[in-house]
Amino acid sequence: MYAKAKAHTNIALVKYWGKKDAELIIPYTDSLSLTLDEFYTTTAVQYDSQLQHDEFVIDGQPVNEKNFIKLTKFMQYIREISGVTAFAKVTSTNHVPISAGLASSASAFAALAAAATKAAGMNLNRTELSRIARRGSGSATRSLFGGLVEWHHGTDDATSFAEPIQERVDFGLEMTAIMLDTNIKKISSRSGMQNVVKTSPYYPAWIDVVQHDMVAMKQAIRAQDVTRIGQIAELNAMRMHALNLAADPSFTYFNADTLRAMALIHDLRNQGINCYYTLDAGPNVKVIYHKNDRPKILKALQIEFREDQLVVAKPGPGIQYLD
Ligand code: PMV
Repeated sequence: MYAKAKAHTNIALVKYWGKKDAELIIPYTDSLSLTLDEFYTTTAVQYDSQLQHDEFVIDGQPVNEKNFIKLTKFMQYIREISGVTAFAKVTSTNHVPISAGLASSASAFAALAAAATKAAGMNLNRTELSRIARRGSGSATRSLFGGLVEWHHGTDDATSFAEPIQERVDFGLEMTAIMLDTNIKKISSRSGMQNVVKTSPYYPAWIDVVQHDMVAMKQAIRAQDVTRIGQIAELNAMRMHALNLAADPSFTYFNADTLRAMALIHDLRNQGINCYYTLDAGPNVKVIYHKNDRPKILKALQIEFREDQLVVAKPGPGIQYLD
């Protein structure tokens, strides 16, 4: 009745931004991501018939009520499909700043889906696990797999799952995260996307953009063309963030440092150094480049940002069971 799993975060190169079904987390569009080695979550699950309710300890702290409700609902679903009746003690450690647009929920729900089902005696493949993780957080769907991963939006629980495109990414694709603000974000991705779907006049255009970008991105991956991957990812991210600016009420995840980092990447490109950026539901900027260009890029970033703000991340692996 015990299991422990480790899952890595992922950063979307073609973003998921909007739910068609908020309960099952079925998105409007496909998405595509890179799993990263540097950021991950380990989670242990122990079912115990003595417990009166589930217990969640994250990074040494019991969770607040809002997170308890979300997590215990997730565990209730695992009990329904596994037939286990006992409550569980869940202990989780994040090697990633929580809620700073670095997708901690992705690694968290992927690790929880794997550990909670294994501890319950279920033996599921990663596609099945990705469908379960999806119910916790959309981006978690993709974190079961390593490397470049696609999430098929599907139309229902059975058809909305992730699949690897290339698990071992060996053509030099790399990302450096510029950590600008590691505080809890003000607007959750959940409420941000809800607002956008309801009020952004550009939402129908976004659905077309993603369809196009998915095809182009997969072509660029097949061609191992890091420049093309960066170009598509940057434009896709900016088009996602444009939805937010056009929503009612209008909002943005950018702060002044975000704009400073973006301007720096543009400057580097003008100097002939190939690098691109992407951003999620937070102000931190992720720089996309070929690993051969890393020294030049880091040198330029170190002039503007502190050493401890820059985290180099390489493609990372899929789910692993520990112990
Ligand atoms: O599934 P969530 O709530 O972590 O939302 C993820 C949203 C983005 O990170 C902005 C895009 C994505 O595809 O990961």
